[in-house]
Order: sequence, then structure tokens, then C-alpha cells
Amino acid sequence: MEKAQAVLKAEIRRLLADRKAILLAHNYQRDEVQEIADLTGDSLGLSREAAKTSAEVIVFCGVRFMAESAAILSPGKTVLLPREDAGCPMADMITERDLAEYRSAHPGAVVVTYVNSSAEVKALSDICCTSGNAVNVVRSIPPGREIFMVPDRNLAHYVAKVSGRAMTWWDGYCPTHERLTGEAVKKAREAHPGAPLIVHPECPPEVVGMADAVLSTAGMQAYCRRSAAREFIVGTEMGILYRLRKENPGKRFHIASRALICPNMKLTTLEDVRDSLADLSPAITVPEGVRARAKAALDAMLAVPRDAA
Ligand code: 13P
Ligand code: SF4
Repeated sequence: MEKAQAVLKAEIRRLLADRKAILLAHNYQRDEVQEIADLTGDSLGLSREAAKTSAEVIVFCGVRFMAESAAILSPGKTVLLPREDAGCPMADMITERDLAEYRSAHPGAVVVTYVNSSAEVKALSDICCTSGNAVNVVRSIPPGREIFMVPDRNLAHYVAKVSGRAMTWWDGYCPTHERLTGEAVKKAREAHPGAPLIVHPECPPEVVGMADAVLSTAGMQAYCRRSAAREFIVGTEMGILYRLRKENPGKRFHIASRALICPNMKLTTLEDVRDSLADLSPAITVPEGVRARAKAALDAMLAVPRDAA
């Protein structure tokens, strides 16, 4: 098994050099995919790296909306998503048509769209946000404007509470984070007394209300690196444990529930990465009209000062 993996990894590295390609892996990918990646990170951080790289080909190990964001920010580069079927059920919960209907009924509303969304939905939005900057993005909207957030109801609930802004939202959710219950958190706390509980804002409000810190995946890496605590209870997809453990060898990390596994994030194997590089497929493209409008919503987000909170 290990020998087969070593052979595959060598083949991938050779193909990466031949194709002038860079391999990016999201924090939730399988351990062996993260291990061979040039860069690991959160969804937006990786897309921004993709925009900066001099590589001609970007292999994005993640889900479709992430590869689309890379294609939006990096026109002219080939963006590969090794598993075409790796989607995000939450991104699929709102369609372009749903949002167009909302917009025509509420022409004055500012639409804030989480990056976990399709390129078409981003293209109909005023501004995007990530789990790490959503509060700042909402605070940047002039007071008195109507605010509508899509597609994640849990992120929106959290942002409304922290920012104090009146807003409404779409009723989407992440099926993986939704599975983390208050009951499971209580059990994890009993099993690991004193360990801080860090959760992703996609978790249900009950769980977010119990947390010591509510963070994006990149925020969790930074928090655990800086914290003096020796043990942590982690409320997000379990793939994040790979890097947390690697970067913090003296600290212990406990997943808040064994149910925290995203099947789409686990689809991509080393074989898929090798085949994708060999065939330069499946390539993700975004039609230019959609790309330009979606990029405007992403650029509006990137213009919000990071420490405006
Ligand atoms: P991040 O943007 O924090 O990486 O999260 C992406 C995601 O899919 C969370 O479920
Ligand atoms: Fe989508 Fe949830 Fe999977 Fe993230 S963890 S990719 S939000 S289904």
C-alpha cells in the first residue's frame, strides 16, 4: 500500500513538472492528497494563491465552487478539478433562478454571497464573503441598507448576531456541519474537560453558541498555533486534523463528532490526481460574461479591510 502510494506520488510529481502545474489541496482533503500538495489552505486562500502563481495549470483538489473561484480569478490558466462529481450540496441549494427571483422582488437589497456558491450565483451578487471575513463584509455595508445573505442560514445567523445588523437569509445549510449536535458537543466536553471548543460558523446556532471560538478553517490553524492550550475539540470536517496535528506536534486534537465527514471532499484520490494531470481534464471553465460579474463580487469582498471589525 505504502509502496503503491510512493510510486503514485513520484508519478504525480513528474507530471506536475512536465505540465508546469501546481497542486492545491483544501484543508478537508484526504491526508495523502494534502501530503503531496504544493499548498494546502482554505477555499479562498487557495484561489488567491492560484491567481498569483506562475504555473500554467492549477490542479484544485477540493470541490467545484473552489475550482470555479480559481478559474474566475485566474483567466488564461487551465484549472483542473480531478473529480468532476465533487460538488458542494450547500452551494447547490440556491440556483441562479432563485436569486434572480429574489432580486426582482427586492431591488434595493444588498446580496452578500458566501463563496460556497456557483459562479452564476456569485455573478448575481453585490459582494462575496468567506467564513473568515463575513462579519467585516456585512459591517462594510452602509447602515440602513436591506441585507440578504446566501446560501448558508447558519453563517448568516452567526453574522447577524455578531454584527448586530438586521438581515434576512436563504435557508441553505451544509449537511456535514449540520450533523454536529449540542448533545455530541456536551459528550466531547465531558471526555476532554478544559479543552477549548473551536467550531466553523456553518455549524448549527446551538453548537456555535457553545463554542470558545468560531473560525474559518484557516482561522482554526492560526488559533491552535497561537493558543497556549494543549488540547482542542474541533467542530469542522475531520480532514483538518491532518494539518493541525502536523503543525502542532505537542498538542492534541479531538474531533467533536465522528459524523463530521464531507463525502464530496473525500472523493479525490491520488489516482484521480494522476489521471487528471495526464489527460489535462476535467478542466473547469466559466463563461466570460459570468466570470467578469462574479469577479466583481469577489473583488468587492477583497477590497474590504481585513481588520475593519
Ligand atoms: P473554508 O472556506 O473555511 O475553507 O471552508 C470551506 C468549506 O467548505 C466549509 O465547509
Ligand atoms: Fe460543502 Fe459542507 Fe462539504 Fe464544505 S463541508 S464542501 S460546505 S458540503
